[in-house]
Amino acid sequence: MQWLDDYNIGVSHIDKQHKELANTLKRLQGSLSSTYVNNEMANTLKFLVSYTQQHFSDEEELMESIGYSDFKNHKSLHKNLIDDVRTILLKLKNNEAVNAKELIEFLIRWLIDHIVKEDSKIGSFIQKLESK
Ligand SMILES: [Fe+2]
Repeated sequence: MQWLDDYNIGVSHIDKQHKELANTLKRLQGSLSSTYVNNEMANTLKFLVSYTQQHFSDEEELMESIGYSDFKNHKSLHKNLIDDVRTILLKLKNNEAVNAKELIEFLIRWLIDHIVKEDSKIGSFIQKLESK
């Protein structure tokens, strides 16, 4: 996964966290040596989940503090992702095979899509506030 300047939403601490998420996904891509998720990947995934939870809660705090209009919907998108990834971690815990390439591609697509379609709207909302 390649970070593009277009992904910046203009809020520095959020952009920094997004970059860290992108780097972690890049690391996962680099370790794609086996078809199914192995132990090393599972550990990186666990880090990804806890970092993502912290990031989501920071982003939600920001949205609340600015009175963001689409807060509820945005928060539910976060929750859905965490639920999905938790389900996958549970599969791994139960020794079920998880296709590594599919999982990583899903996560990368989700992150880029979410930043471009949803998080960018927070950036625009702040810009509007500041121009008032
Ligand atoms: Fe978000």
